[in-house]
Amino acid sequence: MFEVRQKPEMVERALLVRFYFDSHEEDESASLLTELGELVSTLGIEVVDSVLSHPREMKKKFLCGTGKAAEIVELAKAHECDVIVFDNNLFPSQQREWERLADLCVIDREEVILDIFAKRAQTREARLQVELARMQYALPRLARMWGHLDRESAGSGGSGGGGASRGMGEKQIEVDRRLAHQNIDRCKRELEVVRKQRKTQRKEREKMDTPHGSIVGYTNAGKSTLLNILSGSDVMAKDMLFATLDTTTRRIELPDGQPLLITDTVGFVRNLPHRLVEAFKATLEESVLSDFLIHVLDATAPEILKFQETTLGVLEELGAVDKPIITVLNKIDLVEDPETLDFLDQNFPGAIRASSLTGEGLDDLLRACAFVLADRVSRRSYRIPQKRGDLLNLLHSDAKVLSTEYEMNDILVSAVVPAAIAGRLESFLIPA
Ligand code: GTP
Repeated sequence: MFEVRQKPEMVERALLVRFYFDSHEEDESASLLTELGELVSTLGIEVVDSVLSHPREMKKKFLCGTGKAAEIVELAKAHECDVIVFDNNLFPSQQREWERLADLCVIDREEVILDIFAKRAQTREARLQVELARMQYALPRLARMWGHLDRESAGSGGSGGGGASRGMGEKQIEVDRRLAHQNIDRCKRELEVVRKQRKTQRKEREKMDTPHGSIVGYTNAGKSTLLNILSGSDVMAKDMLFATLDTTTRRIELPDGQPLLITDTVGFVRNLPHRLVEAFKATLEESVLSDFLIHVLDATAPEILKFQETTLGVLEELGAVDKPIITVLNKIDLVEDPETLDFLDQNFPGAIRASSLTGEGLDDLLRACAFVLADRVSRRSYRIPQKRGDLLNLLHSDAKVLSTEYEMNDILVSAVVPAAIAGRLESFLIPA
């Protein structure tokens, strides 16, 4: 059975490398390298050192020249690293060249993120999505996985042995390639089934027509913590990247009594591999289909503007930026510096300052949600015959019932009613 290699689970000490080819990219590259360090640590790999390098031109073989490549390998050996992690995306051929030169495991940012996603995926849908993305990543790299067969025997068995084993390696690649294609097809078929189920669930929800908001934002911004405090639930919230891969939906109540469904979505990161965006599109579609978005930003993050840009960029790709967006500057409890507060005011006018830990600003957030949905609800009074239990049930499940009073064979109900069910109750309305 074809298995995707899981090198990062076997390695312990990493040297990080990022090349940038335009001098304007120095600051951005430095911060991406720091972020890569956090991603690598998330996998339990120790980051021993990092190299930020500005080669004069991009070379095909190693991205940099052979002299610089040799220097990097020497540094990795001096630190006794067992993996070199590139922030730049490497072509399969470049990855192979580096591994040949260093005789160490060499991976890139995309593989790191794929491995984190693979560890975190919990539901069947998320697992299938990650499996698919990993197999698609591995497919053009199969030659690299089996290259060692040829190399080992070329070194030990002389020219005749080398020739025979080269055939072995190639045969193995062919077998694996076929298996990989079969697995990719199987995965796509299974995903199709799971997605159909999700569609049915969504339709059920739409029938109820309860308004729906989605929490989106950069990884570790505090999305799950916010959903927890708003709903009194315990979605996994951890100080680690991509703690949540699966969307979780909870029902809450706004101050005007209106029910609201809130969904927590997968976090974004810069240079999120495109095939993962593709893989998670179905999950993220939840945010496309919701009535509005709550964009959570970590107010303490020095890169907050970049993070905002990344999130909005992915949302744009999904076609979700034209709906109302409530911006939340989360973790405000940690911001004391007046300069930072000034910076936030200037760059995020109208954003809600909040803390999902202390609860500060959450009333403002709920009010903002109610404001966004204002035209969807109104307070109404009805005279409903007691025998119309169906309508009373509807009011209790989809509206906020404020009072009931019995009068002869009728019930007088005062309620905050979403526009979607108002029509069905129209003929029982008591004129104001
Ligand atoms: P991903 O699952 O990676 O997308 O992360 P997330 O955005 O869901 O973040 P999560 O809720 O897991 O929070 C990340 C870390 O930030 C946790 O350690 C939280 O306790 C912490 N955190 C979240 N909100 C706040 C806040 O308002 N103040 C402070 N001080 N810490 C917070």
